[in-house]
Amino acid sequence: MLKVNMNKKILVTGGAGYIGSHTTLQLLEAGYQVVVLDNLSNSSAKSLKRIEAITGESVDFIEGDIRDAALLDRLFQQYDFKAVIHFAGLKAVGESVQQPIRYYQNNIVGTLNLVEVMNKFGCRNMVFSSSATVYGDPARLPITEDMPRSATNPYGRSKLIIEEILEDIFAADSRWKIINLRYFNPVGAHPSGLIGEDPLNIPNNLMPFISQVACGERDQLSVFGDDYETVDGTGVRDYIHVMDLAAGHLAALEYLQQQKNGVCLPVNLGTGQGVSVLQMVHFFEKVNGVRVPYEIQPRRPGDVATCYADATRAERLFGWRAKLDVQAMCRDTWNWQKLNPKGYEP
Ligand code: NAD
Ligand code: WQD
Repeated sequence: MLKVNMNKKILVTGGAGYIGSHTTLQLLEAGYQVVVLDNLSNSSAKSLKRIEAITGESVDFIEGDIRDAALLDRLFQQYDFKAVIHFAGLKAVGESVQQPIRYYQNNIVGTLNLVEVMNKFGCRNMVFSSSATVYGDPARLPITEDMPRSATNPYGRSKLIIEEILEDIFAADSRWKIINLRYFNPVGAHPSGLIGEDPLNIPNNLMPFISQVACGERDQLSVFGDDYETVDGTGVRDYIHVMDLAAGHLAALEYLQQQKNGVCLPVNLGTGQGVSVLQMVHFFEKVNGVRVPYEIQPRRPGDVATCYADATRAERLFGWRAKLDVQAMCRDTWNWQKLNPKGYEP
């Protein structure tokens, strides 16, 4: 059993989800006491059971919604949280175009509720899940945190608006300590294969789609465009292993807690390396000894050709850098997929 430091009580919103579950696991391993608040709208509580099995530590789980102000109030009365890691949010770009009110309601109103209760109870340390989507179509590469922000869909706009809201809150009260972590493309799974990404419907993202094709769940991958100005014509992204991403949250949290003064900063979490769609397909086939049939299709509306991070700020401020390579991303994604072909809820 790990020794729990009672001064390390953390609220993790959305902690049953993909990135939240990996971060919760690492928090427990580092001796934090974790309370997860999740409405399970896009996840299963089984992820938390598996985290408990891996770590031998327990997670306090509250099934509930960040928009429920009375619930948040009760939670903050019950626990003396030192910080909040705020993952809870809806994240499907296409769905957000169809259902903007739901996305703004969930992501923005939910965050407003949360910061209100944090302020009331004097817990002003927050690590927020932002996204590289706030860079829109980047004017230059690699992408640095000072580049202009823009949004091309309601999901991205919700992240951009939340960043701006948090900046306003800090401008009004410099006791707040806030890090807006801008993730690039999270992939992979815990090496045990016990927790991983479990999309509810047809995956929107490349990596879960590749692994579902590899295991025969889907016939073939549609490669969206092979006429971009990239190494092989297909889109290039900065894929980051979810274990590295989770470690980035712990590093950000430690950084926040060490600051004497308030702070509100965006920080990229990526590897700084671009990988094309076809390169990823070929890596996946080679590392795992499987076939991933694909067909070239037209470009997907809204996609940019190339996107990768300048990740030096995270290293300079937190001493964090991504360690795991594309091989590990492919291996761990496949391990999770093989062990859980239907996800958490067969
Ligand atoms: P996920 O859907 O697996 O996790 C989000 C969790 O939040 C889910 O468990 C869901 O049930 C919960 N949730 C949603 N709305 C809630 C609400 N109102 N109250 C309580 N719980 C709620 O997604 P993820 O990939 O783990 O993403 C986590 C965060 O990171 C999200 O905010 C997402 O926008 C952001 N992000 C994700 C990616 C990515 O590609 N996965 C990239 C950049 C940013
Ligand atoms: C990657 C590459 C596709 C699926 C999205 C969100 C972004 C962020 C991360 C949350 C692109 C290509 C994909 C497929 C394909 N999420 N592709 N066939 O679009 O970079 O980012 O997830 O914040 O906001 O927009 O990720 O995984 O969807 O696509 O060819 O079936 O794979 O065109 O080049 P993306 P992705």
